Amino acid sequence: MFNDNLLENKTIIITGGGTGLGKSMARRFGELGANLVISGRRNEVLEETANEFSQSGINVLTCPGDVRKIEDVELMSKQTIDKFGKIDALLNNAAGNFISPTEMLSQNAFKAVIDIVLMGTWNCTSVIGKEMIKNKSGNILSIVTTYAWTGSPFVVPSAAAKAGVLAMTRSLAVEWGRHNIRFNAIAPGPFPTKGAWSRLMPPGFDDFEDNMKNKIPMKRFGERHELENLASYLMSDGSAYINGEVITIDGGEWLAGAGEFSDLTKLPESMWKAMAERRKKEVNVKFKK
Ligand code: HXC
Ligand code: NAP
Repeated sequence: MFNDNLLENKTIIITGGGTGLGKSMARRFGELGANLVISGRRNEVLEETANEFSQSGINVLTCPGDVRKIEDVELMSKQTIDKFGKIDALLNNAAGNFISPTEMLSQNAFKAVIDIVLMGTWNCTSVIGKEMIKNKSGNILSIVTTYAWTGSPFVVPSAAAKAGVLAMTRSLAVEWGRHNIRFNAIAPGPFPTKGAWSRLMPPGFDDFEDNMKNKIPMKRFGERHELENLASYLMSDGSAYINGEVITIDGGEWLAGAGEFSDLTKLPESMWKAMAERRKKEVNVKFKK
């Protein structure tokens, strides 16, 4: 889909780049020529991922750390500049989440998710943004999800935090456009990963996954390469005029939930035909009268 040198000479920091969707997007950026910096709290996970990437000839630096700690983020920014000389782009991907009835959440539970998702994104954006302002160039992409604007029961801290990330994205797109820094977000629907599935699939509710899939108009979950392609496009200079946008990649899931008549997609063809016949007859009767 892309030229192999699409992201050549770009240095991209990917938070949460050691696992799941962050790892997939990072690998694709690397295959397209980018220098990668991957961060996360577990050093051994980062090292394993970096080894895999290096074996494919990808340049990668690991920066173990916690996005909630500003000193870790500052160190990541410094180490990136020391190794690669500059930071072209940031992918705010690190997140924390779990399902819980909201009335059962402790203060600390709510704070844990807000601190990772909203404060972590702010920490990375502010520290790296200042470097980008100095360089008069930058690209900041954040991973949100569709309930950033619809909200969702049972993941209230995550919904509130992702809504905040989206508001930050749109606000800074305008404020820092003058520094030639652009901000966008991707809102994925469900993409199976160990991190998400282990925390969001209610144990003992065996039909949940199938029900979830059936709600999606395309009747399937997202595939990693589909997200990788979108993220690579948004990281590339080919999308340089896209600023302040959120792009949904969910097979039509959230719109299906919002549309008044979405349940009618379950009607068999035969019922539509029978209804059409009936309508014709009723129209004829009306005209005779
Ligand atoms: C209720 C919970 C809980 C749960 C933790 N807590 N899990 N409360 N239900 N299932 C509470 C703890 O009891 C504690 O409160 C507080 O949260 C902090 O927990 P810790 O384990 O001390 O926090 P920490 O080690 O910082 O871990 C953060 C985490 C964890 C968010 C709780 O799950 C994590 O590290 N997640 C990172 C990866 C991740 O979540 N990936 C999935 C992203 S998927 P007390 O009061 O006891 O101290 C995603 C998909 C969105 O975002 C869209 C899908 C369609
Ligand atoms: P994941 O594998 O659990 O990814 C989360 C990553 O964030 C991990 O690598 C984790 O590494 C890192 N992380 C968590 N807390 C951190 C912290 N405090 N500091 C630094 N790094 C931290 O789950 P995923 O499904 O790939 O999720 C990736 C992104 O996609 C998230 O933003 C998520 O909200 C979003 N998303 C996912 C889906 C889906 O269906 N999978 C749908 C919509 C949106 P450590 O644990 O080592 O720190």
